[in-house]
Amino acid sequence: MAKPRRNQSAKHTTLEQTIRKATRQALHDIGESTPEAAWVGNKVQWPVTCTVGPGLEGAIACESSVGYVNGARGNLIYRGYDVVELCESSTFEEVAFLLLYGDLPTRREFESFNQRLVQYRFLPHTLRMMMSSPLEQMHPMAALRLGTILLRQRLSWRDQDAGEPEESEAIAADEDTVPSEESEQQGESRAEYQFRLWPADKPQNVRKSADNSAGIQTCLRLISGIATLTAAIARIRNEKLPIDPDPSLGYAANLLYMMHGIRPSPEEARILDIALILHADHGMNASTFAAMVVASTMADIYASVTAGIGALSGPLHGGANEAVIEQLQAIGDPSNVKAWVVKTLRNKQKVMGFGHRVYKAYDPRARILGPLAKHLSGHPSIAGMYQTATTLEKEVVAALGRKKAIFPNVDFYSGLVYQALGIPLPMFTPIFAVSRMAGWTARVFEYLKNNRIFRPRAIYTGPMDLAYVPMNQRNETGENT
Ligand code: ACO
Repeated sequence: MAKPRRNQSAKHTTLEQTIRKATRQALHDIGESTPEAAWVGNKVQWPVTCTVGPGLEGAIACESSVGYVNGARGNLIYRGYDVVELCESSTFEEVAFLLLYGDLPTRREFESFNQRLVQYRFLPHTLRMMMSSPLEQMHPMAALRLGTILLRQRLSWRDQDAGEPEESEAIAADEDTVPSEESEQQGESRAEYQFRLWPADKPQNVRKSADNSAGIQTCLRLISGIATLTAAIARIRNEKLPIDPDPSLGYAANLLYMMHGIRPSPEEARILDIALILHADHGMNASTFAAMVVASTMADIYASVTAGIGALSGPLHGGANEAVIEQLQAIGDPSNVKAWVVKTLRNKQKVMGFGHRVYKAYDPRARILGPLAKHLSGHPSIAGMYQTATTLEKEVVAALGRKKAIFPNVDFYSGLVYQALGIPLPMFTPIFAVSRMAGWTARVFEYLKNNRIFRPRAIYTGPMDLAYVPMNQRNETGENT
């Protein structure tokens, strides 16, 4: 992997200075965007009345203390900690612990957690099974689905009594946006939510009840194992054999090592680590919800996160990071941007890497990934594209920022960062999945504590009372005889 070279303007800026400047700026801008008084936190009183729009926009599916997205304000919280601050001070491993257990670890807890993550990196049996399939002919997200199912060799919550979540009569609710902060929804009807409150005798903190259960061990196996699967898929697609993990490396460094076969520089490892932190959890997004829906049937966690991988693969969700690079390549020179934007918007096409169901302000993850992309912008693989990207951002925000609250989302700059780290384009979305595994497992694990099967309704708009017509009496023109 070629060493990233910094551009002239970033010449004397170290990575840590870039990170510090970006995080300070992000916290300042987020703080400016909405007065603190808007935060009502836990003061939600049931019943809650919400407007529900198409695509379940605005609907509340459950309660959660894993993470919070404030779309109006443009900030993202993991278990009470601002993700921007976690980028500055934490690591992906620590964030995974935080999401799963609910608290930052003590030194001893973290050491034991890390030991288990390192131990679970080794998947020779799963890789052997995976390599008997034509991986090179599959999209890497399809290969990742396969690998995740094969990872379910012996353990699953369904197979292990000790790890099975408790049956429970209670249901609970979660929300990304508390009602007082709701931005206007697109739906017409209003729904009243009346969930029974979380019973006082139920555990509020997963750590208290689940540390030793097979369930949480399975979450760790998945968080650790998905990196090994992803790196192996990348290598096999490149006609190379998978290589063993290096136990001496941290999670991000080992992932790069297993993909490239070269130990990354501390700077490269730190940049990927931040990208993993930023993608680890994001409220009730489509893939998290998909994973939770499958888990709510008491299917095993492997089936559940496989559904998450499937949902993430779509271009409207995690697949957008690949589409952004293809879009920047198609635009080419920054001088083409203006005309391209006019044509795209005139044709009512979406600009990839922009817009978000929840954020009506700047996506905080883009606030960090943008400066990281700038830091790497001297790298030959993204030098031209970075200029095109910043020009595109200016044009799209000028056209749609004020009018439709459309700003860059997490996917806009993440692809540039991955490209500069030497990660092949088709592997961008799997890298997203590697990180999001922490959020999927944390939220599924939390939901199963008080599980109730998801089962929304549809409004039937079809005909009633039709009489069955035998096939031989059906008219090809559509008029039945
Ligand atoms: N470019 C141009 N216009 C846009 C964009 C965009 N990227 N996103 C939304 N709009 C416009 C729509 O055309 C629509 O306009 P209208 O009201 O005049 O018809 C309005 O904004 C609302 O758009 P919806 O598609 O209804 O918004 P929704 O909340 O359903 O979709 C989504 C959100 C899917 C992210 C959308 O913004 C999009 O398709 N973006 C591009 C793909 C992308 O970058 N996805 C990654 C999202 S981040 C993630 O999932 C990790």
